[in-house]
Amino acid sequence: MYRLVFTQVLRRFDAEAVHRLTVRGLAVLARLPMLKRLLHRAFAPHDPVLRVTAFGVHFPGPFGLAAGFDKDAACAEAIAALGFSHVEVGTITAHAQPGNPHPRLFRLPGERAVINRMGFNNSGARAAARRLRRTRGVPVVVGVNIGKTKVVPESEAVADYVAGARELAPLADYLVVNVSSPNTPGLRNLQAVELLRPLLVAVKEVADATPRRTPLLVKIAPDLADEDIDAVADLAVELGLDGIIATNTTIRHGGETGGLSGRPLKARSLEVLRRLRAKVDDRLTLISVGGVEDVDDVWERLLAGATLVQGYTGWIYGGPLWAARIHRQLARRVRRHGLSSVTEAIGRTA
Ligand SMILES: Cc1cc2nc3c(=O)[nH]c(=O)nc-3n(C[C@H](O)[C@H](O)[C@H](O)COP(=O)(O)O)c2cc1C
Repeated sequence: MYRLVFTQVLRRFDAEAVHRLTVRGLAVLARLPMLKRLLHRAFAPHDPVLRVTAFGVHFPGPFGLAAGFDKDAACAEAIAALGFSHVEVGTITAHAQPGNPHPRLFRLPGERAVINRMGFNNSGARAAARRLRRTRGVPVVVGVNIGKTKVVPESEAVADYVAGARELAPLADYLVVNVSSPNTPGLRNLQAVELLRPLLVAVKEVADATPRRTPLLVKIAPDLADEDIDAVADLAVELGLDGIIATNTTIRHGGETGGLSGRPLKARSLEVLRRLRAKVDDRLTLISVGGVEDVDDVWERLLAGATLVQGYTGWIYGGPLWAARIHRQLARRVRRHGLSSVTEAIGRTA
C-alpha cells in the first residue's frame, strides 16, 4: 500500500516539501494526547524481550530514528508513537541557521538511497530546549545531536559546541557530538584526534555536570580511514565516553554534492561497526546506523556488536509503520532463536 502511495504520489513532489509536511503533521499529532497514546499503545515496542539498557538509559527496543529527521525537536513523541524506541533529534547548533540553498535533498529510489546537503538547518539550541521542556504525554527516549554553527570559525568550534551542550545536555537522555556531517565546511576535520580531544573533553565536562550525568557519544563518518576509526575509538575509551554512533552519510559517490545514505551505505556501515567492536569490545556502547532496511539488517548489526540500531532513509521507502514492523519481527526472531531477551544477541558473531 505504502509503495503505491510512494510511487504514485509522494515521488512526484519535492523531497524536502514532503519531509516538511510530514514533520508538521507529526508535530500536530504530538499535541493530540489521546491519539498519540492510542498510536503508542498500538505501535510502540512493548514486548519485554525487546528491552535494552544502554549507558544507564532504558530503551523499550533497540531500533530508533537517526538524527536529521526531527532537526528541531518538534515531534519526537509522535515518532515514538509510530514504533521507534528512541529519537535522536538534531543536529542542533548553538545558533539558528537556515542551512544550504534549495534544492538540497534528493531521492534515488532505484538505489533505495538519498543524497542530502541540508547543512544543519535548525532554529538553534535555545528554541530546541524550549520544545524539549514541553515534551510530555508518552514515554520517549530522546538523544540530542549537536553540531557546529556554520559561521563560527573552526578555532572557536569548542566554545560553540559547549554553548549548545549547556542548553541541551540537561534535557537529553543522551548527547551526541556530531563531527561527521559532510555539509558544514571543515566539520569533519574535527574527527582528527588532536582537534577531537579538546572538543570532547569540554563537552564531557558539561554533560557530566548535569544532575543525571548525561551520557555522551560521538558520531563518526564512514569515510574515515581504518586507522582513524581506531584512533577515535581509543580516544573515546580513554576519555570515558559512553559510546560511538557509526555512521553518518558518505561523500564517496558520483551523484549530487552531499552525503549519501540508504542501501549503498549498508556494507561500509557494517564494516565500521565490526572494526569498532573488534577494537573496543563492550567497553563502549555502539550504535549502528547506515543502510538499515529491514529486520535482517537490524539483527545483523546486533550480532555484530551494536547495542542500538538506527535508521532514517529506510523509513522514507518503508512507510510510516516501518519501525513498528521491524520491532514486531525482531521480537519473533528473538524467540525463534530461543533467547529470552534481544540483549542476548548483542555481539554474538563479533
Ligand atoms: C535528509 C537527511 C538529513 C540528515 N541530517 C543529519 C543531521 O543533521 N545530523 C546527523 O548526525 N546525521 C544526519 N543524517 C544522517 C543520518 O542520521 C544517518 O547517519 C545516515 O542517513 C545513515 O543512515 P540511513 O542510511 O539509515 O539513512 C541525515 C540523513 C538524511 C538522509
